[in-house]
Amino acid sequence: MQDLHGHRISYLRVSITDRCNERCTYCMPQELQEWLRREEILTYEETLRLVRIAAEMGVSKVRVTGGEPLTRRDVVDFVRQIPEIPGIRSIGLSTNGTLLAREITTGKTMAAALRDAGVESINVSLDTLDPAVYRQITGRDFHAEVLNGIDAAIAAGFNQIKLNTVLMRGRNEDQLLALIEFAAPRNLVLRFIEMMPVSTREVLNESNFMSVLEAKRLIELSCGSLIPETEFRTNGPASYYQIPGRQQRIGFIGAMTNLHFCESCNKLRLTCDGKLRPCLGSYLEFDIMKPLRAGASDEELKQFFLDVVERKPREHDFRNNYQPNRKMVAIGG
Ligand SMILES: C[S@@+](CC[C@H](N)C(=O)[O-])C[C@H]1O[C@@H](n2cnc3c(N)ncnc32)[C@H](O)[C@@H]1O
Ligand code: SF4
Repeated sequence: MQDLHGHRISYLRVSITDRCNERCTYCMPQELQEWLRREEILTYEETLRLVRIAAEMGVSKVRVTGGEPLTRRDVVDFVRQIPEIPGIRSIGLSTNGTLLAREITTGKTMAAALRDAGVESINVSLDTLDPAVYRQITGRDFHAEVLNGIDAAIAAGFNQIKLNTVLMRGRNEDQLLALIEFAAPRNLVLRFIEMMPVSTREVLNESNFMSVLEAKRLIELSCGSLIPETEFRTNGPASYYQIPGRQQRIGFIGAMTNLHFCESCNKLRLTCDGKLRPCLGSYLEFDIMKPLRAGASDEELKQFFLDVVERKPREHDFRNNYQPNRKMVAIGG
């Protein structure tokens, strides 16, 4: 699948729930959220069918996300079926980490069960090492659970564990070095992410936005000039650097300030309520649940994918006074 701007689609982000056990300020509002009803959510069977069809069209990497994907029932049984789909070569999962250390069968953590089910890489969100600030950001007191979750993920032996940190001036700019020190001995790849106006325009303003360039400068004041790793790429849009004098890689995701951000985009998103989204920062979304439930054939659904990919924009709209119409938690980050 290739769009009109030369983006080749090989990566599908699959959101399996709009629900979450946290309330991050930049992702969803604090007030009680109305969740989607069960019948509005794709069943696992429906999701797997769409992943199979995408794989037949060139998708080789899947990342399971949400909401918080580990809050959905039977998630491990679902994930286990993904590697069985011909063409899928890599499976990742994004989580807030709160449930990774939970014992789901005797002596086995959620993290270990996911690893056994074929998940190769885990991304854990962690914006601060300060429990009080963590609570302010996420609306919940789960800091200790997340740290235990990271330990459980390390013990489970994933090929790669990344830590994702959303940059927030006034909240966590004093944490950048502490997070680097936390990541180093654990061999975690730490990535700093610019806040995007995905849920509401208000979450982001001139006083709390912090660019990756500024974060990089702050880090360089203590660590020296970071060494660009232009050859190193994961499937995402991060730019990676080595910290001089150590074996540590950190990444920056400058969705708002990097004007070339969208050039290498290889992604398509499937929301939990069955919408295909060609771009996170665009209003465009196309309801594939409708034809799916109306009995469309594989060929018809393939054509649907092609039509969506054809509408993929050259770049996101975040810099153009984008007014979101959906919460990040419902899109799937
Ligand atoms: C929506 S979450 C879903 C998975 C899981 N609940 C988690 O927190 O990792 C995926 C990622 O999106 C990021 N995210 C959410 N809202 C964001 C925003 N407004 N700007 C930048 N990143 C955001 C989160 O920090 C997280 O790393
Ligand atoms: S970022 Fe993740 S943990 Fe935070 S509210 Fe959104 S979905 Fe939940």
